[in-house]
Amino acid sequence: MPETELTAQTAPRADTDAAERAEALRAQIRRANALYYQRDAPEISDAAYDALMRELKTLEETYPELVTADSPTQKVGAEVVTTFQPYPHRVGMLSLDNAFSLDDLKTWEERSRRRLGMDAETPIEYICELKIDGSAVSLTYENGVFAGGGTRGNGEVGEDITLNLRTIAALPRHLSEDAPPLIEVRGEIFMSHQEFARINGEAEETGGRTFANPRNAAAGSLRQKDPQITATRKLDVFLYAVGACEGCDFANQYDLLQTYERWGLATNPNVRVCGNLDEVLTFVEEWGGRKESLPYDIDGVVVKVNSFALQRELGQVSRSPRWAIAYKYPALQVRTKVEAIEVNVGRTGALTPVAFLTPVPVAGVIVSRATLHNEDEIRRKDVRVGDTVVIQRAGEVIPEIVEVVTSERPEDSAPFAMPTECPSCQTPVERREGEAVLRCPNPTCPQKIRQQLEHFVSRNAMDIEGLGERHVAQLAQLGLVRDVADLYTLTKEQFLTLERMGDKLATKILANIEGSKTRPLARVIFGLGIRHIGERSSEILAQRFGTLDKLASASVDDLAGVFEIGRTTAESIAEYFADARNGETLRKLEANGLRPEAHASAPQSDALAGKAFVFTGTLAKMTRENAETTVKRLGGRASGSVSKQTAYVVAGENAGSKRAKAQELGVPILTEDEFIAMVDAL
Ligand code: IVH
Repeated sequence: MPETELTAQTAPRADTDAAERAEALRAQIRRANALYYQRDAPEISDAAYDALMRELKTLEETYPELVTADSPTQKVGAEVVTTFQPYPHRVGMLSLDNAFSLDDLKTWEERSRRRLGMDAETPIEYICELKIDGSAVSLTYENGVFAGGGTRGNGEVGEDITLNLRTIAALPRHLSEDAPPLIEVRGEIFMSHQEFARINGEAEETGGRTFANPRNAAAGSLRQKDPQITATRKLDVFLYAVGACEGCDFANQYDLLQTYERWGLATNPNVRVCGNLDEVLTFVEEWGGRKESLPYDIDGVVVKVNSFALQRELGQVSRSPRWAIAYKYPALQVRTKVEAIEVNVGRTGALTPVAFLTPVPVAGVIVSRATLHNEDEIRRKDVRVGDTVVIQRAGEVIPEIVEVVTSERPEDSAPFAMPTECPSCQTPVERREGEAVLRCPNPTCPQKIRQQLEHFVSRNAMDIEGLGERHVAQLAQLGLVRDVADLYTLTKEQFLTLERMGDKLATKILANIEGSKTRPLARVIFGLGIRHIGERSSEILAQRFGTLDKLASASVDDLAGVFEIGRTTAESIAEYFADARNGETLRKLEANGLRPEAHASAPQSDALAGKAFVFTGTLAKMTRENAETTVKRLGGRASGSVSKQTAYVVAGENAGSKRAKAQELGVPILTEDEFIAMVDAL
């Protein structure tokens, strides 16, 4: 066939200009993504981002050969949230002036004194609070009921993130009885180190986006378009300020914090009322040495004049109050050298590059390693062996490389290339479409087995105490354990062949392995290490399917039909169970005495005993899971289909056929609010 005909039948050929433009667009989009997701500091507007993405898509549609596997158009979840409704604040949200030294604090006090016309002898009472490193929010409560909330935005108007806020368990839906008719409660949504490590660990395994630090993770989770994603991340909150308020009468900031606690709003316990500035300086110094021990990040101390009367007198200048100041601890960034880059293999076969650094102390801890996340990340930062890098550690979080000091790069350095073969078993690696990670596809890869075992025995999974990393590594290396089921047939003689293993320890570990046979189904599902399945989805699946067999025989549609289980997760589960080797593992587990069942959550009352509830449509104020748990707690049952036996149908927005069926059968239909009122009254 002549060439002209061939080209006429397929898409037109891209010229160099188009190829260059596509590459430039990809680079701009990647940069925008990184700024948005990793730093939460976008430089271009959402509209500009959309325009870049649209142009790239059109180019790639016209010239399909320009599509690359790592193009932002090919990634799931690459789209940036563009639209939230505006959330006007009744009273503007202020920010704070910073102090970087104890002298700055003294200067601030002198200025306050002058404004108040106070002499140097009259003490000013302050309150010191920790400066939580999260994302500021304003929550509106009307007659004690949570009515909505928004981000700070420009201080006047934020973004309406009500639906996401409703998924946060730490935020109460109702305040206690003496709450005022209207109040804007302000505070900080944040993520603990533990949760940050959990979601980043999962993202690394599944090729998703990782966040650079807990603050970005909190901000990113709050601005998710899909509240179900926010719901899977455990966000926390501390409240510390007030905006508009009808009928409030706080004497001082300490009074406000105590009142918040009484209403059921979480406040940070580490506050101190200080009689003078010296006591403030002591607080700042004390926490400078202690902040690493907190399970979340703080980046300073907020010092506030305690009395509200004095606060009113001091007033504000531009966007900051004169009555408060943020003392900022110095950033924890240090330079060091990359001595080597090694590639680890995770339990799902994901290859993660890790930088080995010349050990340096950062905030009191010696740092010698930093994760480089994945191939895209290493390429984006262009980290090379021999490079001098700036590393940073925030709290207890794994250190990361902020940037390369390119001016100090050795002349003979070369970009790091990810291996084409698994470093453990030499099987050629694969990169799936839409994923940032490379994977080893070999199911018998010893490194993978080792990681699977480590995960299986870990505290949140089967919790087999005494079986440490070193033992697990040897068991995998010696071929004594080829899958998790083999753990249950290990003999004491086999254990005794391991290094540093005595009779006593072997007996203890064997007893712990035996004891793990009674773990609930959710832990077993989690322990299997199926891609995309975290602790929460394991819990949901256990509740829905009741046994491993039922879960294993569920179709993708059955799985995707489960509330809060998405299609990707459903496909991953089905793929796992369709693999004959995994089927074999399950059979062996059963033969070895593991027949886990879901532990029904124990009812706390029997007010709804014998009553079946069906939830349908979209609930606005709670997740369906929470609603179902509430019913179960009260002794009732949640069911998926409507019959004459159904006690109530709770219909949210866009309820369809189930609502119609209830009408037909004469089953009472409740609105979400009626349901809430009903269970609140029980
Ligand atoms: S008071 C008008 N208290 O720091 C007073 N802010 O840099 C408003 N922050 O926008 C703020 N912990 O997001 C206050 N205990 C605390 C805080 C705190 C964290 C954040 C807040 C604020 C930012 C100012």
